[in-house]
Amino acid sequence: MELTPISSSHADTDTECLVVGVSENNSVVGSDKELDTLISELVDSGDFKPKAGSQIILRNPIGLRTKRLVLLGVGKADKFDALAQNEAFITLGRTLKGLPINQATLDLGSLTFGNQGALERLGYGLAWSSYEYTTTKPKQIDDDTKVLSALQVIGSDTDQSHLATGIKIGQGANLTRELGNLPGNTCTPRYLADQAIRLADRFNNLSCEVFDENMLEEIGMHCMLSVSRGSDEPARFIILQYQGAGDPNLKPKILVGKGVTFDTGGISLKPSAAMDEMKFDMCGAATVMGCMQCICELGLETNVIGVIAAVENMPSGRATKPGDVVTTLAGKTVEILNTDAEGRLVLCDALTYVERFNPEAVIDIATLTGACLIALGRHNTGLLSTDDELANELYEIGRDTGDPCWRLPIEAPYQKLLDSNFADIANIGGRDAGTITAACFLSRFTEKYRWAHLDIAGTAWFSGGKAKGASGRPVPLLVNWLRA
Ligand code: BES
Ligand code: MN
Ligand code: ZN
Repeated sequence: MELTPISSSHADTDTECLVVGVSENNSVVGSDKELDTLISELVDSGDFKPKAGSQIILRNPIGLRTKRLVLLGVGKADKFDALAQNEAFITLGRTLKGLPINQATLDLGSLTFGNQGALERLGYGLAWSSYEYTTTKPKQIDDDTKVLSALQVIGSDTDQSHLATGIKIGQGANLTRELGNLPGNTCTPRYLADQAIRLADRFNNLSCEVFDENMLEEIGMHCMLSVSRGSDEPARFIILQYQGAGDPNLKPKILVGKGVTFDTGGISLKPSAAMDEMKFDMCGAATVMGCMQCICELGLETNVIGVIAAVENMPSGRATKPGDVVTTLAGKTVEILNTDAEGRLVLCDALTYVERFNPEAVIDIATLTGACLIALGRHNTGLLSTDDELANELYEIGRDTGDPCWRLPIEAPYQKLLDSNFADIANIGGRDAGTITAACFLSRFTEKYRWAHLDIAGTAWFSGGKAKGASGRPVPLLVNWLRA
């Protein structure tokens, strides 16, 4: 998307489509008489109600040079919060995408009141809605089909740079969505590794290392390997290192993603209903990829490491069985009572591995438990942490960016549920508090640094129905944490 700043009045703007925000408090834009009159008439007559997200499209409006005018309601300016903005701007993006235009002009002031967060969310919404999954469902595109590729923006240079930032965050989320949407027979651990290598090829200060199963064996990541034993697809452990700080020794922030490219449950086989959705079980890994692309594009002046533990969880004659005991990289033994609780088994070794980077903080991202969906639904990501400061930071950033998370506790009484008669720790804690016991398991491997866990089982994708597909969450939350 090409962005060009312009400074002209609306009436003079020669454009295929002019987009103006209209608030309930002050329905007129104020800079242009013809436009103000038109909007006042539409609002007074009741033809347009400027509720947040409402829209009206007018063709060839009298007194303006634009061919189309899109009015976007922003409701009461002070109530137009991050969530409402995300929703309104995605709807706006869809509308623009549906119009036969190559170019549009946005009045940033009236859409976002010059607010940095709102400008970023506008960019995010426009980029987010421009993505469509076509890789295995190609779309017929005629040569004369018009695609929106250029935006003129009425606003300051600063406004424009915030908009551009938002677009980059949206494009990061779109990479996450694409990887999530790809079927399990394409997006294997080896495929994820190839994509990580390609990403590193695109940026000077991003490097990539990939470990194969022999190397994992040598390092001692037996717990991760136990998950992929049943699969013909070999596991991959991927490390992306971004050097953005002037000081190469500045402690890195680390993201660790669960990359189960398909989760059948293994010998503890899942029921077949909606099992296809377990192709999304690598959305934590996809989030790491999306964030890494985004911070490279933004050129963040900080050091970040992205780690992906990629495996396929399959049943077979070689697969790990319930009751098997494996030794983790940390040296602790684990009794695997349920092979479907595999996410924590790959993450624990990855979390131990990253100790060597002396991290500033580590956040793991995982579609870890169905219980999180029961507890929090599809609105909040599950947030669990042994560090109050880090947890509060993530909570606040989530509210501010419209990519919310909600904290659940990690406390000693829950830890007991993981006691095993045959190993240091069991990999499940029974039916109760499933999201918490999963995080308790991880917490046994994160004692050497500040750590938080994001359970994205409910938020990483839209289930069933027309919207079915990856959501790109929590890329905005994490990118904003990395920038903070
Ligand atoms: N990938 C699943 C979690 C999941 C399930 C995400 C449904 C989204 C929707 C994870 O590997 C899993 O199977 N977890 C088990 C844990 C249980 C065996 C303790 C679960 O949630 O049922
Ligand atoms: Mn599972
Ligand atoms: Zn899983």
